[in-house]
Amino acid sequence: MQFLFLGMVLSILVGSHFYIAKRFFAFFSWTGGALKIAWLIMLVLLLSVVVAMLLSRSDLLGNFFADKFIWLGFVWFGFMFLFTIATFASDLVGCGIWLAAKWLPVSADLWIPRVRIAFYGITLILGVTALIEGAKLPKIEEIPVSIANLPQEFEGYRIAHLTDTHIGPILRESWAQQLVEITNSAKPDLIVHSGDIIDGSVEKVGPMVRPLTELRAPDGVLFVSGNHEVYSLSKPWLRHLKSLGLYLLDNKHIVVKRGESSIVVAGISDKHSGKDSLSMAPDPGQAFKNAPPAAQAPRIFLAHQPNQAESAQGYDIALQLSGHTHGGQFWPFHHFIYLQQPIRAGFGKIGDIRVFVSNGAGFWGPPMRLFAPAHIPVLVLQRG
Ligand SMILES: [Fe+2]
Repeated sequence: MQFLFLGMVLSILVGSHFYIAKRFFAFFSWTGGALKIAWLIMLVLLLSVVVAMLLSRSDLLGNFFADKFIWLGFVWFGFMFLFTIATFASDLVGCGIWLAAKWLPVSADLWIPRVRIAFYGITLILGVTALIEGAKLPKIEEIPVSIANLPQEFEGYRIAHLTDTHIGPILRESWAQQLVEITNSAKPDLIVHSGDIIDGSVEKVGPMVRPLTELRAPDGVLFVSGNHEVYSLSKPWLRHLKSLGLYLLDNKHIVVKRGESSIVVAGISDKHSGKDSLSMAPDPGQAFKNAPPAAQAPRIFLAHQPNQAESAQGYDIALQLSGHTHGGQFWPFHHFIYLQQPIRAGFGKIGDIRVFVSNGAGFWGPPMRLFAPAHIPVLVLQRG
């Protein structure tokens, strides 16, 4: 699975660089030595992304120069994506102008280059904005959510929902420390993490997640695995995270009590889990085994990917909490999310389950966010 994912990323990288180069160099009519230098620069940029990805998973992670290279490589990765979209969009508009010029008094020679320059200018502005947004810390966002049959004792119950922190390649221990302080400041009753906590090996990234031991909530800190835990070898990671005092909720539930009343919080492993001997497949039946009836104890459910709700129908789940999409992370990637997931961000319904999808607190790949700010939702339960 990991190789399939890497193969897909590599194909997109090579294809995008080739496409941008062809269109960009043709636009400037570069020939001879200038063209050769331009191709060389494009090759270096392509390699910078590949090397950054390799470095982020190597023993050099943490080395000053390696870290700077990782950051630069991933920044170009983000700009490359934006430039690919801008080139394609300006090609489409250019085609429209070329066709219009056949019947209307419009000069294609004048307007096609202007459109191209406008698209690239807007792309630069969006890229810089995305970098600034990506550098911001996640903010607490209180979100009231009504739950049918919620016992009176749970009115106002606060669940801090962390997800997609992706600690490792760029976000490190100091960021994790700030994340913990922000989360604790919301005074949650319960903290949950719906997966993709880390990226990388336990040996390298393990020390960076140490601040998570300082997360504080009266009813504890629960987590389920995400696909990046699977990519980073689930078993050693799940063991390490449990050793930090985080409670693994993969295919399990807990009963939270207030006096005689209770709610159930259950979770499943990621849908990529169970394909190797190091992880177990998601199993909602196992997660709710021996749980009290939903009519007495409303059920909150953690699953990394929103579409995992499809496999959890019929368990009377009041609310599923998910991540994985990053809210699209940076526009226009928002639109591609729907190729894989029915919900990009916020609330939606999948079958009989109401699902809340967080934008996530961190990022994957480019340290950029655009029109999808990082946040820490605090779901405040209300009687519905
Ligand atoms: Fe994910």
